[in-house]
Amino acid sequence: MSLVIPGPGARIPAPGTPVPFAPTAPLTTPTPNSAGRVAFPDGFLWGTATAAFQVEGAGAEGGRQDSIWDTFCRVPGAVHAGDDGMVACDHYHRYREDVALMKRLDLGSYRFSTSWARIMPDGKTVNREGLDFYSRLVDELLGADLLPWLTLYHWDLPQALEELGGWPSRDTAYRFAEYAVAMHEALGDRVGVWTTLNEPWCSAFLGYTSGAHAPGKKSPELGLAAAHHLMLGHGLATSALRELDPAATLGITLNFTVSDPVDPTDPADVDVARRDDGMFNRIFLDPILRGAYPADILDDVAHLGFAEHVREGDLQIISTPIDVLGVNYYNGGAVSARPQHPGGADPDGTAGPDGAREQADDAPVWEVRSPNPVPDGIHHHSRGLPTTDMGWEVQPEGLTRLLLRLQEDYTGPRGIQLFVTENGAAYPDVVQADGSVDDQDRLAFVDAHLRAVKDAIDGGADVRGYFAWSLLDNFEWALGYSKRFGLVHTDYETQERTVKASGRWYATVAAANAVPARPGAEE
Ligand code: FCB
Repeated sequence: MSLVIPGPGARIPAPGTPVPFAPTAPLTTPTPNSAGRVAFPDGFLWGTATAAFQVEGAGAEGGRQDSIWDTFCRVPGAVHAGDDGMVACDHYHRYREDVALMKRLDLGSYRFSTSWARIMPDGKTVNREGLDFYSRLVDELLGADLLPWLTLYHWDLPQALEELGGWPSRDTAYRFAEYAVAMHEALGDRVGVWTTLNEPWCSAFLGYTSGAHAPGKKSPELGLAAAHHLMLGHGLATSALRELDPAATLGITLNFTVSDPVDPTDPADVDVARRDDGMFNRIFLDPILRGAYPADILDDVAHLGFAEHVREGDLQIISTPIDVLGVNYYNGGAVSARPQHPGGADPDGTAGPDGAREQADDAPVWEVRSPNPVPDGIHHHSRGLPTTDMGWEVQPEGLTRLLLRLQEDYTGPRGIQLFVTENGAAYPDVVQADGSVDDQDRLAFVDAHLRAVKDAIDGGADVRGYFAWSLLDNFEWALGYSKRFGLVHTDYETQERTVKASGRWYATVAAANAVPARPGAEE
């Protein structure tokens, strides 16, 4: 491989002293990176990301059995138009074509996830055929000089384990570590980068508190129990992998918000932003990187039994040193103690990055609640920024602030590298008669966020790579196939892939290791 990611950085013990929340003001543009050509540091890694359930299909092939998402897709009204993952992008059969496509796009790495339900369909017995698929995929990537960036868990728990209690059950954390070891035994000779979990916030709080995601449970207590056991699973897997493979690059991917108080001079708004930040960001950052849950959040959830799940020694396991922190960023939010329109619903609800569900009028209604276990009095306000097809505000400067904060408060002192492991946008693409998609909106979104990443690098953040979400249009969870995030268009009838304008542009960025000047701007 031509790409080498340096091994573990400097290690310092986690001090266990949480960093208090401090609001920052939105950055004003333009910055020096706003318009001209922006070159990235040598060796910057350019990739795209997908997830097993969203692209693979082959739902009942190769010994695979149901994951919680297969089950959830069968719940009337839970998923847009009753869509499911049985075929998806048929990546299971078309992975060679997809790897060749990435190669043509000049990419350096593919971030994919492995399906636990394919590897251990009953939650405990290894299925050789499942391993073989990923072995073939990894060989194909290496043959194309693409770095395999493997994520062990992107939300698709084997249904068999959900039936034993799922993530709210402590045992699941141990099963996860066993699965990590089985994967490493099969692929450790060829895969050097291992991510334990993708976005535990979504697994815990969309899955077990809001009910918007599989398994569709709606309980603050279950969400919190799941959150701790996801953390424990991360720690157990990280320490097992570290022991097996000291040279491996290990990490986790978290999704972040940037919580801005609507009125930074109003202590009530600042406190709401603190709570929002705590339940979204710090509840995962602090145990992993500082060896302690944030004291303010422990207080906020004390009545929900969270602390009872945290046993002696757990935090030491959870804070096993990592090498990289994956950062998924779509948008931040402005929050207040007061509703924006008194008496009315908040403009973007309280659901965070789940988007509004559009269903046919006669479709059964699947009610969801807030993913925040303690949502009372937190009101999200619209800032009038442009929004994507998910209804998410387009806020690139939030990514700069996020990366700088992570660097300063969490990763920098520990020598941990940052990678943006997801960023991208859904827009209602228009397919021309010749099959082309001129998605200037998505192109502008990625352009703006890459400039924001460079602003953070210039400010001292150790960001080593960027993965666009997503390579292909795919199954967007509860929103089914109704939202398109791909740099490549997927025709779900024919499975034909067509590179969009954004994908062609991204290929030039990867090839040049630079974002070209915006039209009309000076070089
Ligand atoms: C993230 C998920 C990813 C995709 C994007 C749009 O939260 O990790 O699978 O759904 O959102």
